[in-house]
Amino acid sequence: MPDLHGSIRDWWDADARHYDRSVGHAISDPVEAAAWRAALRRLLPAPPSRVLDVGAGTGSLSLLAADLGHEVTALDLSEGMLDRARVKAEERGAAISFVVAKAESPPEGPFDAVIERHVAWTLPDPVAAFGAWRKVAPSGRLVLFEGSWGGEGPLHKLKDAVAGALHRFRRDADDHHGPYPEDVVRLLPLGATTTPAPFVDAVLAAGWRAVQLERLLDVEWAAEQREAWPLGALMRSPRYAIVAEA
Ligand SMILES: C[S@@+](CC[C@H](N)C(=O)[O-])C[C@H]1O[C@@H](n2cnc3c(N)ncnc32)[C@H](O)[C@@H]1O
Repeated sequence: MPDLHGSIRDWWDADARHYDRSVGHAISDPVEAAAWRAALRRLLPAPPSRVLDVGAGTGSLSLLAADLGHEVTALDLSEGMLDRARVKAEERGAAISFVVAKAESPPEGPFDAVIERHVAWTLPDPVAAFGAWRKVAPSGRLVLFEGSWGGEGPLHKLKDAVAGALHRFRRDADDHHGPYPEDVVRLLPLGATTTPAPFVDAVLAAGWRAVQLERLLDVEWAAEQREAWPLGALMRSPRYAIVAEA
């Protein structure tokens, strides 16, 4: 049995130096940050609430939630990623608690909300993880921030190819230090998801209820605006929040 979590942790540890080079990863564009802040204000319980950010990475969402007055615990299995988040929190004077752990083994809480952004796709057992999050937020809310990265419709492959060519022409740096290992992706149930349906199914299978879906049009629009035409339009893909109650 391969050590899947070990491979995933090593990959993210290696990516920690690269991750925030991407404006979208770091949410370093003020307009995009404003759109994310609005989404958090809409979807989280009223502050101050106890928020667990799973797979917090370099802390992009944790910092915004802390800005809004929430009491944030940032969990990640990669020390490297969390080290970056720690530095950023210190620089901003944000009081965030940090926990190095697997998504499937969160701290006891209790939390009022469990959030994640772009993490569910890389979980070896998403239903087990979502179930563990429900236990530590027994009367709380789940908010998954996800996207259909491949885009939608018959033209998405063509759009990706043109966007890739434009990136190469501009000599843009890659968003990551390398490709995610094929042998890892093959073992991830949500690793190749192109619609919200498998996320919703996994949330329901883990016992969460009253599931809602909200398209994050403001975030999409803000991300599109920061790229020159036609790159922003070519790269635009559906972003959404899946919200559920324990
Ligand atoms: C795409 S990054 C997202 C980071 C952050 N949520 C953001 O919005 O920028 C995925 C993060 O999930 C973490 N991760 C992956 N699998 C995990 C697991 N099983 N348990 C905890 N963290 C995990 C990685 O270390 C990485 O920091």
